[in-house]
Amino acid sequence: MTPLKHLPAWKALTAHHKSMRHFDMRNAFREDAQRFNRLSLRCGNLLLDYSKNRVTAETMELLKQLAVESGLPEYRDAMMRGERINFTENRAVLHTALRAPSRPPLRVEGVDIEAEVAKVLGRMQRFVESIHNGSWLGYTGRPIRDVVNIGIGGSDLGPAMVCAALDHYALESIRVHFVSNLDPAHLAITLKSLDPETTLFIVASKTFTTLETLANANSAKAWLLSALHAPAAVSRHFVALSTNAPAVQAFGIDPDNMFIFWDWVGGRYSLWSAIGLSIALLIGWGNFQALLAGAHAMDIHFREAPLDANMPVILGMLGIWYGNFWGTDTYGIFPYDQRLRLLVPFLQQLDMESNGKNVNRDNKQVNYNTGPIVWGAPGTNGQHAFFELVHQGTRLIPTDFLVAAVNPTPLADQHEWLLANCLAQTEALLKGKSRAVIEAELIAQGMSREAARALAPHKVFPGNRPSNTLLYQKLDPHTLGMLIALYEHKVFVQGVIWQINSFDQWGVELGKQLAPPIRAALSSVRVIGEHDGSTLGLIADIRRRRGLST
Ligand code: F6P
Repeated sequence: MTPLKHLPAWKALTAHHKSMRHFDMRNAFREDAQRFNRLSLRCGNLLLDYSKNRVTAETMELLKQLAVESGLPEYRDAMMRGERINFTENRAVLHTALRAPSRPPLRVEGVDIEAEVAKVLGRMQRFVESIHNGSWLGYTGRPIRDVVNIGIGGSDLGPAMVCAALDHYALESIRVHFVSNLDPAHLAITLKSLDPETTLFIVASKTFTTLETLANANSAKAWLLSALHAPAAVSRHFVALSTNAPAVQAFGIDPDNMFIFWDWVGGRYSLWSAIGLSIALLIGWGNFQALLAGAHAMDIHFREAPLDANMPVILGMLGIWYGNFWGTDTYGIFPYDQRLRLLVPFLQQLDMESNGKNVNRDNKQVNYNTGPIVWGAPGTNGQHAFFELVHQGTRLIPTDFLVAAVNPTPLADQHEWLLANCLAQTEALLKGKSRAVIEAELIAQGMSREAARALAPHKVFPGNRPSNTLLYQKLDPHTLGMLIALYEHKVFVQGVIWQINSFDQWGVELGKQLAPPIRAALSSVRVIGEHDGSTLGLIADIRRRRGLST
């Protein structure tokens, strides 16, 4: 494999970046009335405006060349064909097959993937409908009112984010809750207002070995049994979503109550699989299908649109441009949509667990930065918290702003103000405000020339700061499906360029291995195992607080 930095397009981009150091987007807009039209793109009802970036036609052309030289189209097709591109776990990566209508059939290594998917979707649909129409009842004969999804990481963040985002599609008869944290407070707070007779637990875990999920599921089972006093109640109040049937059975969940998925579905890409059961329970089967259809529409766009008119490719390549050539470390995501308040944590896992890697496909350490630190919060809250740094801080921060043209909650003129604020922020980042203008304003307000000169630098907005805007009609299931798939593919694009495996997560393992001996050391007679001085000090302090010898 040609090392990334040896690719002709990488070298050309390095030289091009030098010539772009003083590029000013404000001049670019003045000189090119068509800049918005040239640097924006539509897919369905989604509009991506990427004109407020430090790019020229040449930049975009070179980025496209880099994608071609990196073999992006070939890797994309290999993923969708079901090749084992997750080479460190020897697995295919087929989340796109979860949302593809059943024709044409996809056969991978002799297995009819679509038939497998359709079988599970059919079971999920029947289950969801039986909860909704009251034919599935709790152990004492009462209908299910509350659903608690117990899972963590990809078995929590995706469904929790979608349920929050599509709350305006929620059926009145059902409430869905999410418990993830090992901290018992999470489960205890959730259970406080629930009635065991009308509560269904969904234990969601791809591996069914995850400490947090099993601990919470065991505590939930104990809570249920202490109220209903009948082991048979478990089969009416617990279902499992997993790839690990023996572990589900060992936990005591009826195999008939298990919805399977497959090792080719990565945890952070799993909301489209059985892991989406809580979503379907909340918004109904038709809306869940619309979510899948939206993601499928983005899959088709990603597969078929030319690279220079391909949304995930453009977003991915812009991220490379900033991270690898401008030296940015972070990426800000600001949904001006309260319903998308959980989008950032979801994207943090999607992006940082996928591309937080330092070894390439040749098993060598990379010599460039890979995945960025993803952060953000919904607008307008962010404006009153950290936007100071985005506008006036010393760091360059690429950003995505997301906003709907129409809000399903029409309260007075609040949405107009929300939209206006979103656009105002990206305009302010672009335009900035000069020292001369600020001084003149201060003097006009009656300030002395000297005082104005001293204060003005503090009020300067340097401007020329980048942003993408993603504008959509309204947040409906189809649009949300498109948005999520857009970010999934963006992350894929970047992983291919960086020559890393975006689909494993070995970096989560070490902490898991170190926890059991520490747990034992906290309460055993004697501290055993090798620990560093700091960890030993902390263990000793905890033991002292518990009256144990140190
Ligand atoms: O520890 C990280 C991780 O493996 C994630 O990749 C995954 O989404 C999460 O834990 C939960 O895993 P599981 O669904 O197997 O419980």
